[in-house]
Amino acid sequence: MTLLTVMDLCVSFPPGGQAVRGVSFSVGRGEIVGLVGESGSGKSLTCLSVAGLAGRRALVQGKVFWDGEDVLPQSETQLTRLRGREIGMIFQDPVAALNPLRTVEAHFAEVLPRKTRRSTAVNLLSAVGIREPERRLRQHPGELSGGIAQRVGIALALALEPRLLLADEPTTALDATIQAQVLGLLAALRETRGLSILLVSHDLTMVADVCDRILVMYAGRIVEAGSAEQIVTAPAHPYTRLLLDARPERAEPGTLLPVLEGAGRAEAPNGGCAFAPRCPRREALCGETQPLLDLRVGAACHRPLREGYPR
Ligand SMILES: Nc1ncnc2c1ncn2[C@@H]1O[C@H](COP(=O)(O)OP(=O)(O)O)[C@@H](O)[C@H]1O
Ligand code: SF4
Ligand SMILES: [Mg+2]
Repeated sequence: MTLLTVMDLCVSFPPGGQAVRGVSFSVGRGEIVGLVGESGSGKSLTCLSVAGLAGRRALVQGKVFWDGEDVLPQSETQLTRLRGREIGMIFQDPVAALNPLRTVEAHFAEVLPRKTRRSTAVNLLSAVGIREPERRLRQHPGELSGGIAQRVGIALALALEPRLLLADEPTTALDATIQAQVLGLLAALRETRGLSILLVSHDLTMVADVCDRILVMYAGRIVEAGSAEQIVTAPAHPYTRLLLDARPERAEPGTLLPVLEGAGRAEAPNGGCAFAPRCPRREALCGETQPLLDLRVGAACHRPLREGYPR
């Protein structure tokens, strides 16, 4: 069953151009969906728009269905209510997301009733793998490591028992070992709580293991969508291939990594494929006609890489 459905989401900042250009996807119950792409491709704006947090200057168009109910664009209040109860969020910089002047317990005071606050907070901190939770409750954010702070952020996001967690680059600020632990925690929470997660990352291979499906964004559009396994083992879009080839562990000793040149937000000047200036497979058509997401192959590309595509 689908929990969240986003249809033709467009976000712009008038008089500027569109930053998100007709994004459609869904997240099922208990599903982890990865939203990946380079910096500036529109991942955060997509996430924020779903939570009604794109900001006053943003013109948000399209439809968001929550549990089958249409919640956008009629009412931002609806989304705000959803954000409190049904949608939790965690962010890139876990320490900055907390108030440096308040103890961990004071953060829980904002979301939990006084009577059961302490016991619930202790349970939540334990559930996210924090040892000595009572001691942590008395600490301030400055006393926490990045990994512990992100676990606190996740515990806070879980306090209202949301059904969907929007996780915007939740491990980017952490070192590699802690990144893996936090991703493992998210995967475990899906198992134990049936949580649905939209996991945003610029690092495709980092998140692929924990995702069921992956959406690849480029210049405000979804250019490839498929199962995590398919995306990693047999990508159809040349951009996804480039993201995979940019993995440091694939580099030959003594050779340079493929350089990801150009901003992910670039748009082809005459309405063709935005990736054309960087694409090794481009042909004349690519510069002229915007490729649409072909559901058979799961990519928006005139010359997809996957074999068996009827051309
Ligand atoms: N408040 C804003 N005002 C104007 N432009 C914005 C704003 N927020 C984001 N953008 C633009 O939208 C594009 C997508 O941003 P974002 O969603 O943050 O990308 P990502 O999360 O993939 O790095 C960027 O090019 C950025 O400059
Ligand atoms: S449409 Fe053309 S330029 Fe764009 S990704 Fe596909 S092959 Fe490359
Ligand atoms: Mg972002």
